[in-house]
Amino acid sequence: MRRKGFFQTWLLCVVMALTVSAHLVEGQIRYTIPEEMTVGSFVGNIGTDLGLEPKRLVSGKARVFTTGDSEYVGLDREKGHLIVKERIDREQLCGELSACSTSFNVILENPIELYRVNVDILDINDNSPVFPRGEIEIEISELAPPGARFSLESAIDPDVGRNTLQTYILHPTDNFNLNIQSRADGSKNVEMVLQTALDREQKTNHYLTLTAVDGGKPQRSGTAKIHILVLDVNDNAPVFSQSSYKTSVVENAAKGTFVTTVSATDADETNYNIQYYFEHPSATVKALFTIDSESGEVSVKGEIDYEKHKQFKIKVTAKDHGGLTDSSEILIDVIDANDITPKITIMSFSGALPEDAGLGTVVAIINIQDLDSGDNGRVTCSLDRDLPFKIESSLTNDYSLVTDSTLDREQTQEYNITITAADGGSPPLSSKETLTLKISDVNDHAPQFQQQTYNAYVLENNSPSVSIISVKAEDADWGPNARVSYFVAGGYLNGDPLTSYISINSDSGVIYAVKSFDFEQLKSFRIQVKAQDGGSPPLSSNTTLNIFIQDQNDNAPQILYPVQTSSSVVAEMVPRSADVGYLVTKVVAVDVDSGQNAWLSYKLQKATDRALFEVGAQNGEIRTVRQVTDKDAVKHRLTVVVEDNGQPSRSATVIVNVAVADSFPEVISEFTNFNHDTTYSDNLTFYLILALAVVSVLFIFSLIAIISVKIYRWRQNRLFYKSAPNLPVIPYYPPVYADGTLQRVYNYEMCGTTDSRMSDIKFVRPYSQNTLVNMSRAGTVQREKKEQEEEDDLSLEVRLFFTVLTDLAFICTRCCHSVQCYVLVCLLNS
Ligand SMILES: *[C@@H]1O[C@H](CO)[C@@H](O)[C@H](O)[C@H]1NC(C)=O
Ligand SMILES: *[C@@H]1O[C@H](CO)[C@@H](O)[C@H](O)[C@H]1NC(C)=O
Repeated sequence: MRRKGFFQTWLLCVVMALTVSAHLVEGQIRYTIPEEMTVGSFVGNIGTDLGLEPKRLVSGKARVFTTGDSEYVGLDREKGHLIVKERIDREQLCGELSACSTSFNVILENPIELYRVNVDILDINDNSPVFPRGEIEIEISELAPPGARFSLESAIDPDVGRNTLQTYILHPTDNFNLNIQSRADGSKNVEMVLQTALDREQKTNHYLTLTAVDGGKPQRSGTAKIHILVLDVNDNAPVFSQSSYKTSVVENAAKGTFVTTVSATDADETNYNIQYYFEHPSATVKALFTIDSESGEVSVKGEIDYEKHKQFKIKVTAKDHGGLTDSSEILIDVIDANDITPKITIMSFSGALPEDAGLGTVVAIINIQDLDSGDNGRVTCSLDRDLPFKIESSLTNDYSLVTDSTLDREQTQEYNITITAADGGSPPLSSKETLTLKISDVNDHAPQFQQQTYNAYVLENNSPSVSIISVKAEDADWGPNARVSYFVAGGYLNGDPLTSYISINSDSGVIYAVKSFDFEQLKSFRIQVKAQDGGSPPLSSNTTLNIFIQDQNDNAPQILYPVQTSSSVVAEMVPRSADVGYLVTKVVAVDVDSGQNAWLSYKLQKATDRALFEVGAQNGEIRTVRQVTDKDAVKHRLTVVVEDNGQPSRSATVIVNVAVADSFPEVISEFTNFNHDTTYSDNLTFYLILALAVVSVLFIFSLIAIISVKIYRWRQNRLFYKSAPNLPVIPYYPPVYADGTLQRVYNYEMCGTTDSRMSDIKFVRPYSQNTLVNMSRAGTVQREKKEQEEEDDLSLEVRLFFTVLTDLAFICTRCCHSVQCYVLVCLLNS
């Protein structure tokens, strides 16, 4: 039975599927309805299908009994119809099961009958495929290779069979294809396959539409939008805008000074965050420059010194987020600033220079350096003006300081030489160095006497060792070169060395007399004083010192005539016929002093008859004042005082006997009367004869001498004119001597006595000649000296001798006169 029923059921199903009509099945019945029928729709007529009378249904209180929650199908007892009581959704009821049915029982009472009813529910295409999300976001790396698969969410279509999802369609298909795979359970797996590579840099977003379609009729579909975001991959390295950046920076630029900006671009959008940094910077670069890693701005960080680094080459790297890099180079030229002052180094400097250093003598070697370049480092070296030095450039940076003119320590002892080194920058920098150069002394100056000649006057009879004068010589040099010592040049005076006359203090130049001078012996002399410095070799100079000895009135006048004897009986004879002014005789006196001290005046001190004689105050001539008369006594005795003009004056007296008589006998008788001595008379006769003979001989000699002198003079004159016409040959007598002294004697051609001292007369000679003699004595070779002396002396002596002879001759003639008188008187007496 059950087998039969199963078969029937199966058959029914087939029929129902074809006819959709109810079939009556005994005890069990099956209906087929589509889902989603409206409520109240007819499902089947169980009255007929089960053969039940409607009355029975009513009486039997037929009802639907279901075990489930919901009662989809209800019973209309009246009609015996089964109707849709609730909406039937197959998808809800059965899900994915394609065969879907619901079953319930129809229960009748009185008698109880139970029927089972199966209602097969057929699917209708009431659902479209639906994607879980209408929009699908997919991020795909741009590096995804072709062939890469991206599974998509499947769409869902609750329908079953043909009504369910059949396939997918993708649009557009530029980059992607769909790959649909059926799973074992019949569901479909859909994936996108990348056909051509994506490039974010070309297209970032791709919008696709995925359509899912089912197989129902009419076909239903659902779409999903696919948004593909191409993910950026760091596939582009940053690229610097320049392969190298050239720039420059001034040295000593302040910190933070902008140098340059490097920039790199990166095609990768998401990787724009580029970092800049120096690649393996040296310590110097690190210290001097900094780069802003964000902006790429390079700025100064430390102190840039051109003199250390003239150029910097810095490698710079730009790195993107993904680690891709590019590198470039920054070339920074450092521009020189004139920041270095020239440096002066004295390489060699002696500090002192002798004043006789020649032109071009190197004083110092100087090195001047300026590390700046170009004009900033071009140094010019200069000195103060008006210095006797100059700078010579020898090597690039070496200069020598040399003398440019002659030096003189006596003018400038020390030079401050300021060397200025300036560079050519703008503004220029300069530095100075001062050298103090001492000029050392060289013995180039001889001592200089303050006077060319010195005249010293010393009174005669001085005390020995009195200081006469002080000479001084100055030496412009310094130190030992200026230490002056004084010496008296050697020489002789009157046969004695000069040093026996004077001495000099070699340090002070004070000149002392060594002995007491006698004006009457030495009126003046001349010495050479030598001043010598202490240099090596020493330098010296001479001065002439004339020492004049000044006269003191230390000599009384000396009476030359008349000759005074102890018992003089010599008398001058005055004839009675003598007129007024008759020259009786002349008192001849000399004073060896000079000047006022030798200015003699004559006075008649005592006289027998004052009215008869007078003495010329100036000339000593005794003349008659009045006519001699017969009454006048024969014998007269006159005392004449000769006085010099010195202070105090000195004087001498002489007694002159005058006989006023016409004949010798008269005189003799007169004189012998009061002065007669027989023994004396005997002797006298002999002496007179002897005197006569001597005088005669002398007279003859005098004549011979006069003649020879005349000849010699004539020759001498010729010699003088030839050799030294300037030299005076005629002796010069100072005018002060002209009055009343010896010169008058010559005028009267009176004889001098043998007392006349040669030396006295000798010093009347011109001074210059005397000096010449002395000097020649001192200076020349011995033999020459002697010859010269002899010759000089000869001419001089001869002249003197001549003078003396003239005097003698005069005196002799007078003597003869007297002697003859005596001789005659004697003869007569005897
Ligand atoms: C040189 O300089 C020094 C020191 O400044 C100074 O004492 C001296 O007088 C100067 N000499 C000259 C000749 O200017
Ligand atoms: C100084 O005098 C001496 C001797 O009198 C002489 O030799 C010398 O040349 C003189 N010197 C000078 C500088 O006049």
